[in-house]
Amino acid sequence: MTVETRLDAERSLADDVLDGLTRPFKELAPKHFYDAHGAELFDQICEQPEYYPTRAERSILVAGSADIVARTGVGELVELGSGTAEKTRVLLAAMAAAGTLTRYVPVDVTEHMVQRTAGELVEEFPGLRVEGVVGDFEQHLDAVPAPEDGVPRIVALLGGTIGNFIPGSRRSFLRSIAELLRPGVDHLLLGTDLVKDPAIIEAAYNDAAGVTAAFNRNILVVLNRELDANFDVDAFEHYAFFDREREWIEMRLRATHRMDVRLEALKLDVSFAAREELRTEISAKFTRERLAHDMAAAGLELREVLTDDDGLFALSLSARPG
Ligand SMILES: C[S@@+](CC[C@H](N)C(=O)[O-])C[C@H]1O[C@@H](n2cnc3c(N)ncnc32)[C@H](O)[C@@H]1O
Repeated sequence: MTVETRLDAERSLADDVLDGLTRPFKELAPKHFYDAHGAELFDQICEQPEYYPTRAERSILVAGSADIVARTGVGELVELGSGTAEKTRVLLAAMAAAGTLTRYVPVDVTEHMVQRTAGELVEEFPGLRVEGVVGDFEQHLDAVPAPEDGVPRIVALLGGTIGNFIPGSRRSFLRSIAELLRPGVDHLLLGTDLVKDPAIIEAAYNDAAGVTAAFNRNILVVLNRELDANFDVDAFEHYAFFDREREWIEMRLRATHRMDVRLEALKLDVSFAAREELRTEISAKFTRERLAHDMAAAGLELREVLTDDDGLFALSLSARPG
């Protein structure tokens, strides 16, 4: 097992925060939610009764993994934003059962997550080579090891993470993923949440136990600790709504009163007006047409779309035309 670290986490946080908090509409990038506590909170979100995406995606993998392996002949799995790789184990087990499993490459910004997942998986799958990358998948895809001759590869992006990109960046990100795929040999496995009744979507981001609210506010805890800031975390309210025109969820933090905040490490003072909102995440929802358009724009062909029994979530396989 090896883990390569590419990330200069402090630099990346400082640059992003300086950029995001000095915009006319303040914004922070969702990758900064995931310190150790944020990663734990995300796992708890996945267990909330309202949060259907994880259960739906898992059920697709349980029903479809053997077919995915048979169809693609996959021997190597590269996973972007791998997190705890809970669902990924279903696919790895199907690869092991088919006798094709050789290598797993988890890529995530959260270092301890890559270390832990890599350590667990070499135990669980004897003989599996795990080559982890601690890095930002928007900047460090060149750290993904080259594919091996004769071993078909799947690059997976699960959990609806692709929805965190605005449409233009989403397409350019998909284009850079496409470069990891050999035409006619490799596949992209993409998990996307689907457009549906807005009440179901909004409930998923406003769980009754308040875990998503704690996850959202945790980004301010990260800024306080890493950038020596003095956000009054409890003075920000969690606010998540489905934008019906753009068909995406927005997560925001809303200042309950006027505030001045100092970020000492950036020598930056930022003011919030009463009720001012700070955007922390978008999570785009997809239709089959949107998926096909995005793939075509990235030079990929959408080959197969699998959904759960309730049609809540989709897993799709795409490839570069060979
Ligand atoms: C929504 S979670 C999904 C986790 C897991 N794949 C799942 O399906 O449950 C997003 C994951 O992507 C990681 N992540 C977010 N932005 C990233 C980036 N720019 N580069 C690398 N990893 C990132 C986070 O640390 C987190 O583990």
